[in-house]
Amino acid sequence: MTRTTNLVSAPALAPAFEQHPLRGPFNAAFFRIMDPYIEHHLRPHKQRAFAGLPHEVVELGSGVGANLRYLPRGATLIAVEPNRHMHARLRAAAARAGVALDLRERLAESTGLPDGSAETVISSLVLCTVHDPAAVLAEVRRILRPGGTFRFVEHVAAPDGTPTRLAQRVLRRPWAWTFEGCSCERDLEGALRAAGFARVDVERYRVHTPFLPFNTQIAGVALTPPAASGTRPPR
Ligand SMILES: C[S@@+](CC[C@H](N)C(=O)[O-])C[C@H]1O[C@@H](n2cnc3c(N)ncnc32)[C@H](O)[C@@H]1O
Repeated sequence: MTRTTNLVSAPALAPAFEQHPLRGPFNAAFFRIMDPYIEHHLRPHKQRAFAGLPHEVVELGSGVGANLRYLPRGATLIAVEPNRHMHARLRAAAARAGVALDLRERLAESTGLPDGSAETVISSLVLCTVHDPAAVLAEVRRILRPGGTFRFVEHVAAPDGTPTRLAQRVLRRPWAWTFEGCSCERDLEGALRAAGFARVDVERYRVHTPFLPFNTQIAGVALTPPAASGTRPPR
């Protein structure tokens, strides 16, 4: 079953997501076609970060459904995906995977989900593209219940002075233009550690692809503080 919640005009959405008539369809096709290749490189890291996902998961920037394979069959995915060009492929992939899709046309900075309502939030290759990673992580903290987890697989800035860092700087503009605002120069581990989680476990690794700026990555789990004793966690 697929449900779409179209709340794109909500006042909290500033700046709005640009539905680009060429780059939107290009990116939807690119991530569909490249899925086996990206999966081949990221699988061991995703297997660790996304191990044992529960039956209801919130995903930021689901794209065309690369992470549906990590959900249990019969699960519900609340997919926060503002890019309409991804939606048809995402719906079809969810149907194939036997996952009930609750599609929210919202930004991860402002999901519209209630406080403390999610046990698990996941993202892959999304914090590089959002307008404001710190605002997204604050939103993740807000919607996670006490003891909930944020599981992530992201590409990040390479260490200063390395050839990969140079490539990230030189290719900044064409890369961002092609991949709808994607930056390969973000210190996302720093952002995660500054976001107020109780604990952040990060694996740093490198993949080896011709897409040099993409090759420095992190994966892991961030845990929200447990409920204060004497208070009941939200159901
Ligand atoms: C590089 S793609 C990754 C898609 C998918 N997670 C994957 O691993 O294949 C980035 C995704 O983030 C989405 N996105 C961009 N800005 C966003 C935002 N502010 N909030 C939520 N999703 C966003 C894009 O529409 C796109 O689907």
